[in-house]
Amino acid sequence: MQQAVRPQGAFGVVMGWLMGGLNAAQNRATVDALDPPPGGAVLEIGFGPGRALEMLANKVPLGLVAGIDHSELMVARARRRLNGHRGDAALDLRLGEAGDLPFPDEKFDVAFAVNSFHLWPDPERALAEMAGVLKPGGDLLLSIRDVRNGGRFEAPGKGQASAKAAVETMRDLGLQVRQREIVHSPSRATLLVRGRKCGRADG
Ligand SMILES: C[S@@+](CC[C@H](N)C(=O)[O-])C[C@H]1O[C@@H](n2cnc3c(N)ncnc32)[C@H](O)[C@@H]1O
Repeated sequence: MQQAVRPQGAFGVVMGWLMGGLNAAQNRATVDALDPPPGGAVLEIGFGPGRALEMLANKVPLGLVAGIDHSELMVARARRRLNGHRGDAALDLRLGEAGDLPFPDEKFDVAFAVNSFHLWPDPERALAEMAGVLKPGGDLLLSIRDVRNGGRFEAPGKGQASAKAAVETMRDLGLQVRQREIVHSPSRATLLVRGRKCGRADG
């Protein structure tokens, strides 16, 4: 479990490789749900090996691909993956904490996280930080794994509970929140919790 929280060393390399396979459908479903404008700036928290950012940069020509992960190993691996696989976008992947984002306010069109929210020590603070760095009209998207019918590594219901907590915090932050689910199999689904920051015209 510690390796999922902060992959490091030889086991971390294996964990990064496993994440790629285990989380592939969830990463794909998340990227399909994201719609940054061409030339836009995107931020991922807890990007791990960087597959979702790579998929997103291949889907839309972006201006900036940025991210924060607190694992040195994952930052190195994601930088390697994104080098040469992000079109003309600038790359800014940093070592850091979800609850302390080193980016200016209103910088990003989209801020998202896949399968990472449940690991953050202070999720309310991290969501507030994400909302702060979003442009007005921008989207905060949390992609949460929902194990059903009993999982080996995760109790059923944990994903639903995480999503419920996220919805409440995002509403408290003034975001317009919607939730939907994508069912991958009888035992596994992805919950997508999206919060839209009011645009300037919305007041
Ligand atoms: C289970 S992995 C998911 C990786 C990737 N998003 C995916 O779906 O394949 C969780 C990632 O979140 C990162 N992470 C966990 N807690 C974090 C925190 N508090 N701040 C920044 N990154 C964090 C871990 O280092 C790891 O790379």
